Amino acid sequence: MTISWGILGAGRIAESQMAPAIAAASGHHLIAVTRRDQAAAQQFADKHGAQRAYDNDETLLADPQVNAVYVATPPHLHVRQTIQAAQAGKHILCEKPLALDSGQARRMIDAARANRVTLMVCYYQRFNARHQRIKALVEEGAIGQVTAARISFSERFPPQPGVWHHDPDISGGGPLMDLGVHCIDLLRYLCGPAQSVAALVDTLVDKSPVADTATLLLQLTGGAQAVVTSHWTTANHDPERFNRVEIYGTEGTIVAAPIQAKDSAGALQLITADGVQDFAVGPGGPRPHVALLESFAATVGGGRPNPIPAEEGLAGLAVVEAARESARSGKRIELA
Ligand SMILES: NC(=O)c1ccc[n+]([C@@H]2O[C@H](COP(=O)([O-])OP(=O)(O)OC[C@H]3O[C@@H](n4cnc5c(N)ncnc54)[C@H](OP(=O)(O)O)[C@@H]3O)[C@@H](O)[C@H]2O)c1
Repeated sequence: MTISWGILGAGRIAESQMAPAIAAASGHHLIAVTRRDQAAAQQFADKHGAQRAYDNDETLLADPQVNAVYVATPPHLHVRQTIQAAQAGKHILCEKPLALDSGQARRMIDAARANRVTLMVCYYQRFNARHQRIKALVEEGAIGQVTAARISFSERFPPQPGVWHHDPDISGGGPLMDLGVHCIDLLRYLCGPAQSVAALVDTLVDKSPVADTATLLLQLTGGAQAVVTSHWTTANHDPERFNRVEIYGTEGTIVAAPIQAKDSAGALQLITADGVQDFAVGPGGPRPHVALLESFAATVGGGRPNPIPAEEGLAGLAVVEAARESARSGKRIELA
């Protein structure tokens, strides 16, 4: 099935990743885009070969040629735009975090279900070829029983004029909502869901209304213990090395970095009694966003299961909310 895309919010991530991925994926076409400024929308459309440019959501959602939308605006707009898109009968790929909170996420899920459209979350790390290899290694027992994991994704990101990430009404929070949700989702994908969470979530450095430093300790349903760190307060001069996944088992260890590669490139080692096996991927490897789009099309057009249904986005938000509750109360929080 041909996917004819409309992009709601053709900003930074649409520019750097999704529009090029739509161009690269077979059977995908970019039909229309929105920005708040018509001239800016037209400029984006011209650059990426979209047929139409709009300065509002309603006109794009009424465009009969568009059969799917990519919601690429800041998080506070995801709930309204997703519900409107569902009501317009469009399938939806929504950027992370799915919403500002789990209540909004549930409304989005209900709207997609009521209108019989696909709603997928853009957790592209699940389509990183190294992460898919890690999942296969874990599932085939290459490191025995998984007992511990650690996923880190951090950078130094102080407030800057004109940048919305430090505004909680727009972003929903600090690094936990920006970077941490990627770690939580990747942990869920690789090692299974969390059962309980204890966390420290603090504002340590910046004069900001959002917490800038978060460390989570999770117990997974299989019993394994995991640590997620997502900070905007730690200088990360070598993200290729320090934005990493470590999975520990009774028979070995898997380490991989970086988690944010847009071409799957990076290190991946399996370390067991047999030695070190190297599964590194070089630059120019498989592009997660392209694989994600192909999978979206297989769901929409081929009836294949949605690989990242909105319920997965909801599960990540529930962990974020439990982490905050733990940080407030000093208690470990059980997840439903
Ligand atoms: N998966 C990833 O790795 C990744 C990476 C980066 C971002 N993201 C996610 O992608 C989403 C967008 O991030 P971004 O960095 O691309 O954001 P952005 O460039 O700041 O904004 C994206 C678009 O949203 C529009 N927009 C911003 N504020 C708006 C408002 N108040 N009303 C209406 N439209 C508004 C912008 O409009 P104008 O064009 O008119 O300015 C722009 O077109 C976020 O959810 C973010 O977390 C994901």
